Amino acid sequence: AAERHIEVIPEIELPGHASAAIAAYPWLSCFPDKLTPMPNNMMSRKSIEQQQAGRVKLVQETWGVFDDIFCAGKPTTIIFLKDVLTEVVDLFPSKYIHIGGDEAPKTHWKICPQCQQRMKDNNLKDEHELQSWLINQMGNFLTSKGKALIGWDEILEGGLAENAIVMSWRGEAGGIEAAKQQHQVIMTPGKPLYFDHTQSANEDSVTFGGLNTIEAVYDYNPIPASLPNTAAGYILGAQANVWTEYISNPAKIEYQLFPRIAALSEVLWTQPGVKDWNSFEKKLPALFVNLKKENVNFSKAYFDVKATISASPNNEQLLLDLSSKLPNAFIKYKVDDGSFFNYKQPIIISKSAEITYSIFENNLPLKLKTKSFKFNKATGKRVNLQQEASASYPGNGSVTLVDGIQNTKGLPAASEFLGFKGTDLDVTIDLGKEMEISEVTVHTLKQETSWIYLPTELAVTFLPFIDTNAVKKYPPIETVTVVVDKNQAETAIKVAGNHTCRYVRVVAKNFGTIQAGNAGAGNPAWLFIDEIEIK
Ligand code: ACM
Ligand code: ZN
Repeated sequence: AAERHIEVIPEIELPGHASAAIAAYPWLSCFPDKLTPMPNNMMSRKSIEQQQAGRVKLVQETWGVFDDIFCAGKPTTIIFLKDVLTEVVDLFPSKYIHIGGDEAPKTHWKICPQCQQRMKDNNLKDEHELQSWLINQMGNFLTSKGKALIGWDEILEGGLAENAIVMSWRGEAGGIEAAKQQHQVIMTPGKPLYFDHTQSANEDSVTFGGLNTIEAVYDYNPIPASLPNTAAGYILGAQANVWTEYISNPAKIEYQLFPRIAALSEVLWTQPGVKDWNSFEKKLPALFVNLKKENVNFSKAYFDVKATISASPNNEQLLLDLSSKLPNAFIKYKVDDGSFFNYKQPIIISKSAEITYSIFENNLPLKLKTKSFKFNKATGKRVNLQQEASASYPGNGSVTLVDGIQNTKGLPAASEFLGFKGTDLDVTIDLGKEMEISEVTVHTLKQETSWIYLPTELAVTFLPFIDTNAVKKYPPIETVTVVVDKNQAETAIKVAGNHTCRYVRVVAKNFGTIQAGNAGAGNPAWLFIDEIEIK
């Protein structure tokens, strides 16, 4: 790395995110005899067998924030951590050593006699101050070795350790506060600098939730506008993070990094006054040629064909708009097994069909994509959504529910869903005129390990034609309610019944708070809906 002018800074996480260390050395925990609580839907057979054979401490097998952290009260923990840091200092020539400090619940420290004794002995008023005390111990130790300590912004909570450098990840507030306190800061806010997040709305591989586009990265300024000029000098720069919970091979890391890292590099190496997106965008094709030469598995998503579905103005058909940011992109498409046509204007779709499209170069498709439209009585109709979906999973707005696309890939095609965090789906579809209806199907997703739950209940209300003159005798309004079994495998939930009506209101009840013992316990569950089908 040094030959390439790269300095590698190790992070040795403490006192949280340490389940592997605790599994190896249970005495590092406040409660060595307490079973590692693991979400019961996230234990491998091997872990279950180990626990049955009497093993108390296990390594967590998935991401999350866990209560079992290093005990800050026992002298042995401090000795252990200094031993580890001594080895790390010997291995890494960097001036900086990162000690983590993030996501460490104080649940165990509050009830641990040794931790409480440590607080008394050092006049610490709460467990945050105990964490500060611990970080200070590590900071002083690293200083004695000629190194500087970096920690995540949680290390502000009980008071910053002397000379500590703060990495601001939960937005910029921690970084701003640290700079005001005259501490050095590295900015790495989740938006837009977490590169484990998706880079294109078109993405179809599994990534961590949220969208951080290359444009958003280029737009980032590591010196917040709200920071007083006098404190700006404390911002050392910015960092991108690629966590690998959903990444199982190096090629995928490259894919997440490139080309976004080029945007961040230019941001950090360019005076804000001369930053220019248009000029950066013009350089992208040349960058792609170079990355290809170097065999880098970079994402070409920026130039991908963007397919946008909308309802036709009369709500009778769908319109499929195809575009690309590639200069002079030549897009072709075909319908079902037909031949390819040059794309000129939005394609009008009036019945179930498969549309295949791609940019063509030298008469060859670069990357064929297919959209499979399934028409039903609701397709393309006017939709009135009572509660907006979450900004993290906005789909393509309310038309997502009636765009004819039924999700088949699950979460990798997250943009095909509207996601509701803790809230219900409440939507009314206007069929345009009275129609005979026999069945309403709500297409959902179930992936409890990602906090996505089936709705608990579906209520479908059939409403008659609404005529302000009220001269016609209307059929009565009727609501059919279906209770959904949490354990059912079927995610397409059907409500049957024969009705003649113009409006259909669908309310899907969110599961609510995730129960103890499961991934995401205590958090609001997600409700994911991709399509409402009316027959
Ligand atoms: C972090 O993402 N927990 C620093
Ligand atoms: Zn303890």
